[in-house]
Amino acid sequence: MMGTPKSETLRQIRRTLLDWYDRHRRPLPWRDNPDPYRVLVSEVMLQQTRAETVKPYFQRWIARFPTAEALAESDQEEVLGLWSGLGYYSRARNLHRTAMIVRDRHDGRIPDSVEALRKLPGIGEYTAGAVASIAFGRCEPAVDGNARRVLSRLFDLEAPTLDEFRQLAGALVADKRPGDFNQALMELGGRVCRPRSPDCESCPLRAVCLSRARDTVAFRPAPRTRGTIPIYVIGTAVITSAAGQTLLACRPDNGLLGGMWEYPGLETGDSEDPIDSACRAVRELFGDLPLRSWPEGGEPIDELADIGHVFSHRRHRYHAFGFHIGSEPVPDLSSGNWTEARWCSTEALAELPLSAAQRKLARIVAARC
Ligand code: ADE
Repeated sequence: MMGTPKSETLRQIRRTLLDWYDRHRRPLPWRDNPDPYRVLVSEVMLQQTRAETVKPYFQRWIARFPTAEALAESDQEEVLGLWSGLGYYSRARNLHRTAMIVRDRHDGRIPDSVEALRKLPGIGEYTAGAVASIAFGRCEPAVDGNARRVLSRLFDLEAPTLDEFRQLAGALVADKRPGDFNQALMELGGRVCRPRSPDCESCPLRAVCLSRARDTVAFRPAPRTRGTIPIYVIGTAVITSAAGQTLLACRPDNGLLGGMWEYPGLETGDSEDPIDSACRAVRELFGDLPLRSWPEGGEPIDELADIGHVFSHRRHRYHAFGFHIGSEPVPDLSSGNWTEARWCSTEALAELPLSAAQRKLARIVAARC
């Protein structure tokens, strides 16, 4: 473990980085008016997501929920709808719960200490540090993946521990402009000190970067050896009625994609084909109703699409099959796989919270109509 660098080195890094930030920072909507609620929303959206992707979501969110109170008063379906496509949907559910806790237990004000922030759902060490420093000027470190990469290279650390990062970032951040410093470190990692093809020539810290001096930039931090990511195959049922409506179902609140809506699908068992798990989903909802293929005249049951989606820790492959039911029977939800189901027009479907993969499937289905 390395010792803490000399205070003169730390001062130089701090000064250089803040100077770079003043000249090069991106104009991002949450930086215009960094009130605590806006900072909190932006930092939760920025978890594992690039700033460019976050921008339009942030703007729509703030237009609809300008305050924590407005968010607390809204219903989960609308909250998830505004998050649709951004991924990691538990972030939206947690933010919603946080807004209610802030309303009920904190007098409507976002807490200003790391300790209190960390007690809120979905707020870990890094997000708490980011909010405390950016919104409240607290001298707290905030080290996300980008900042970790910068620190690993700056101090040429091969496999630093979480404690080492804490110690380094804690020594670097200072009373003066801690929020800007943290953002500068994260932004430098995102834009200059990139994982692959870092732009060392334009890096403000190139003169003090140990990895650069030792020619180890490409090896810092040492690549993680990831296990293989499991693939889940899902047989999905696109069920349409004679009136042209499609059945969408809501997943239970807990678990992956909790509270999100989908064309009902079930994971394909070991010795099962996706078409069989899609049929199982239909039977769970409607028993043994006679089914026809959709669009009509196709194969007995038509495969409409085959869509892959990569999550951080698993891959999904959705095989979607079209089914046609003459009427619009009330679905049976007793299997527990869904908490609600609705027959939807194209317009109603557009309002529902769907993941990126389900939205893609919706576009394919619409094109077949
Ligand atoms: N990554 C996460 N939060 C960030 C911020 N506030 N600025 C730049 N990059 C970030």
